[in-house]
Amino acid sequence: MRMRRIRNNPITRKMVEEVSLKPSDFIYPLFLVEGEGIKKEIPSLPGVYHFSIDMLEEEIREIESLGISGVILFGIPDHKDHVGSGAYAEDGIIQKGVRKIKSLKPNLLVVTDVCMCEYTDHGHCGILDENGLVINDETTQYIAKIALSHAKAGADIVAPSDMMDFRVREIRKTLDENGFENIPIMAYSAKFASSYYGPFRDAADSAPSFGDRKSYQMDFHNGEEALEEVALDLDEDADFIIVKPALAYLDVVKAIKENFNTRLVVYNVSGEYSMIKNAIKEGLVDESIIYESLIAMKRAGAQIIISYHAKEMAKKLKEGLR
Ligand code: PBG
Ligand code: ZN
Repeated sequence: MRMRRIRNNPITRKMVEEVSLKPSDFIYPLFLVEGEGIKKEIPSLPGVYHFSIDMLEEEIREIESLGISGVILFGIPDHKDHVGSGAYAEDGIIQKGVRKIKSLKPNLLVVTDVCMCEYTDHGHCGILDENGLVINDETTQYIAKIALSHAKAGADIVAPSDMMDFRVREIRKTLDENGFENIPIMAYSAKFASSYYGPFRDAADSAPSFGDRKSYQMDFHNGEEALEEVALDLDEDADFIIVKPALAYLDVVKAIKENFNTRLVVYNVSGEYSMIKNAIKEGLVDESIIYESLIAMKRAGAQIIISYHAKEMAKKLKEGLR
């Protein structure tokens, strides 16, 4: 068969498209800060802002009207300490943010990132021993406590991003014991130790003060190991699986898609976003590169995309771009 006979005609070309994008494929990350009257662009993430809670209303209305499924929340607290107590405080930044968003738009999905690195003074994703190594099992107790406090505030889905062993099991148990058996867990199962998180760590003030995250995040030399991580998390009853970053890890997405029946999410992270935005700004590439990149994630097998491009892409899709 000659493919050209199909490709010649824009109508047949469209008719045979294998994947497409729609606004509801997206979850949009939001960064919340303490204080009042703050809507401040994040230098490392052009077009993305820090919001104080009183300034969220317009943003939330826009996200909902664009047809985006929901938001994933990150908090930048005023106070940090050794155990990250701000992460589970009833009046913590995320807990206040969830209550506010739910009061504005009850039908917009609110996902919370469950981790300690924004809240610990050392910037690591867990409780540390005297040698500076994360103590896995003590950390998962804290992680479960954080997830519970998010659920109590009204979160629809909790998303643990710490990569400790058995945290999904610990969270599930805690949620169930407290009457939240209907709150799903979206697990960052294949989260790689990556340089692509650079702009985020500036935005969330969460860079480790010493060392790196290689003792708990995945080694990017390994793809098959991701299947093991996914199998473990599904066994612990994870409802969604996240692969992160997205673009350089689409082989991992595809492998998971082929090996498991689950709801597969990719996190199109800060470094991927900022590289593209800067290249567009410099005139090096056309902005249609955004659509092409997001389509590649769908083609690899992602069902849901967490992306800083969500709003601009949803606008374009509404205008009929393809
Ligand atoms: C925190 C967390 C990180 C990201 C999401 N949750 C950073 C990290 O692990 O260092 C990265 C998101 C992005 O780069 O957009 N555990
Ligand atoms: Zn973390």
